[in-house]
Amino acid sequence: EKGGFRHFMLKEIFEQPRAVQDTMAGRLLEEEGNVYLEDLGLTDAEMAGFSRICIVACGTSWHAGLVGKFLLEELCRISVEVDIASEFRYRNPVVSSGTLLLAISQSGETADTLAAVREAHGKGAKAIAICNVVDSSIAREADGVVYTHAGLEIGVASTKAFVTQLVAISLFALRFGRATGAISRERGIELTSSLLHLPAFIEEALQLDTAVESIARRYHNSSDFLYLGRGYSYPIALEGALKLKEISYIHAEGYPAGEMKHGPIALIDENMPVVMLVLRDRHYEKVVSNMEEVIARGGRVIALCSAGDSETAQKAEAVLELPSCAEIVAPIILSIPLQLLAYHVSVLKGNDVDQPRNLAKSVTVE
Ligand code: F6R
Repeated sequence: EKGGFRHFMLKEIFEQPRAVQDTMAGRLLEEEGNVYLEDLGLTDAEMAGFSRICIVACGTSWHAGLVGKFLLEELCRISVEVDIASEFRYRNPVVSSGTLLLAISQSGETADTLAAVREAHGKGAKAIAICNVVDSSIAREADGVVYTHAGLEIGVASTKAFVTQLVAISLFALRFGRATGAISRERGIELTSSLLHLPAFIEEALQLDTAVESIARRYHNSSDFLYLGRGYSYPIALEGALKLKEISYIHAEGYPAGEMKHGPIALIDENMPVVMLVLRDRHYEKVVSNMEEVIARGGRVIALCSAGDSETAQKAEAVLELPSCAEIVAPIILSIPLQLLAYHVSVLKGNDVDQPRNLAKSVTVE
């Protein structure tokens, strides 16, 4: 049942090219530069009427929400807030009929996320769910749903469910931006074409597996890790750190790279591996200078950079080169080596990869 893989988590990591294809299947309208979402339950006029989107989720799904804020603000020019569901539901949040709630949940059963949907409904807002499990409680209570179609995820640490959430959010952003007019047909065509290339890029990133394993061997005895990124790479840094914590039990923190000098820089010494997400994008120069600050303090930089970036490769202690890709798919490509890193460190430590201690796949109680 593990299809020749040693653990479900590894099988699910390697299933991702197919999983994202399933998320997109029958939904991309390439010639129109648009997306068809069968159960969205919102008209174009309704979408154009929202002044704000509130995303609520927990854990890994919350990280997907943070990437969603970046994409929705960038592509749709609508203001987006992202909340942890257990905070949102108890805060008396400002929500009205002009607000669209977007609830993200793999299981569709997370108690706090379900309560957030009820809270929003109580205040007259509409709620859309991004869920993996069909007919789950959150999917049923929401006014519309975008299913991720990742297939059953058995590993407790979420991998393919997260990546397909990112795809579902991209599809939603494209649909939303086309409905409101924020995204032109031409831009829509560009974006659908970038999404269509995604499975091939994931295949390429998966080929880093052996290189990631040797990095895991080199660093798995460290007691702390720092993960740094900017823009859409910041939530991926959070997710990389969470994955490592969950299955390797190593303390890890994700931070926006620009925040480093406001505190975490004090932690950096010659024992601290720092995973830097340094793709050639609009944040490149800034992240490179953060990387230099880490190196100047003796930190051991593991860089995830764009293929051919010899400058970064020379500076870092370890390097993983990723295929150059469009911004809309870059957060997904960055996620792959971070999943593999957490996986290999966990295996080297002899941990139960698929069933980490104290964690449950579905958190149906508060
Ligand atoms: C992390 C993980 C958890 C879940 C969180 C929300 O690998 O699996 O952080 O993401 O418990 O679960 P869902 O998405 O089912 O609401």
